[in-house]
Amino acid sequence: MTTSRLVTPFTAKSTAAEVIAGIDLGGRRAIVTGGASGIGIETARALAEAGADVTVAVRNVEAGHRAVKDIVAMTGNAKVHAAALDLADRASVASFVATWDGPLHILVNNAGVMASPEMRTLEGWEMQFATNHFGHFALAVGLHRALAAAGAARVVSVSSAGHLISPVVFDDIHFRRRAYEPWPAYGQSKTANALFAVEATRRWADDGIAVNAVMPGAIRSNLQRHLDAVELERMEARMNQSSDFEWKTPEQGAATSVLLAASPLLDGVGGRYFEDCNEAEPNRPGSRRGVAPYALDPAAAARLWQVSLDMLAS
Ligand SMILES: NC(=O)c1ccc[n+]([C@@H]2O[C@H](COP(=O)([O-])OP(=O)(O)OC[C@H]3O[C@@H](n4cnc5c(N)ncnc54)[C@H](OP(=O)(O)O)[C@@H]3O)[C@@H](O)[C@H]2O)c1
Repeated sequence: MTTSRLVTPFTAKSTAAEVIAGIDLGGRRAIVTGGASGIGIETARALAEAGADVTVAVRNVEAGHRAVKDIVAMTGNAKVHAAALDLADRASVASFVATWDGPLHILVNNAGVMASPEMRTLEGWEMQFATNHFGHFALAVGLHRALAAAGAARVVSVSSAGHLISPVVFDDIHFRRRAYEPWPAYGQSKTANALFAVEATRRWADDGIAVNAVMPGAIRSNLQRHLDAVELERMEARMNQSSDFEWKTPEQGAATSVLLAASPLLDGVGGRYFEDCNEAEPNRPGSRRGVAPYALDPAAAARLWQVSLDMLAS
């Protein structure tokens, strides 16, 4: 495995189509969660364009079918499907896993919810952690055998610069003792997405499975649905003043996920965090770029894995 920082010829401005140009994914099977909107639809489209058999795993199956129709029309690849998956519902994840048959070469854990008001699953788990991290954890663990069967599978864990807001607060993951706050809840779930890549790579590298995390960039999408007008204005103002990020198009937003999912530049690379199509530098205090040390901490990653297994078994 390479240990120096991985740098590619691609940048923040690169699109998914540019990153995947010349790559043939014929015969490969891919799943993109949340593949019916925003970055997910562009990720699914790029993988389909390269010839992969793509399943968009969505909770709104009608929206999934619309996305599939659109992707098939644009790419001419008829091997694109929609399947029901609600990441916040364990039964739904289990049923998705149970119907999957055969090898899985690419899993893009892309779906997410951001800064929602306090919501809980049937089990009483905090909704952002349950959806963004735990649902994807259960999905990947459930599909582990299919990933191993592929020989050299890739898993992409879509994180965010939002991880800089909070580490995983192991003493109170579900906000039972502290007051609920939408952004710290999002932050810890996105740290969990990065930590998942670290521990999954440690556990699964011998099965040929490489797992990396990605900050896709700032993209206007349905993700901002829980922000009110004042918060949206504040976000726009922050973006305009900051030199850390510029808004990306969804096609640019999907580029880093697609790079991690399909590029030979990533062969043998796992457990790392990328942004703007390159491995991220360590975060510098005050900056919204880079990766926090706690998001790559092997001890926290192992602890999160055990907590997640306990949730799965509960
Ligand atoms: N946009 C950005 O600026 C940005 C920045 C950093 C990181 N990200 C990350 O990028 C990923 C994609 O975001 P996006 O901008 O493309 O947002 P989006 O357009 O809102 O897409 C998110 C997708 O997740 C799905 N989803 C939410 N809860 C789900 C559940 N319980 N089960 C299954 N699917 C569920 C949504 O489905 P419904 O349509 O049914 O709600 C939607 O398709 C997220 O993980 C996000 O955290 C985005």
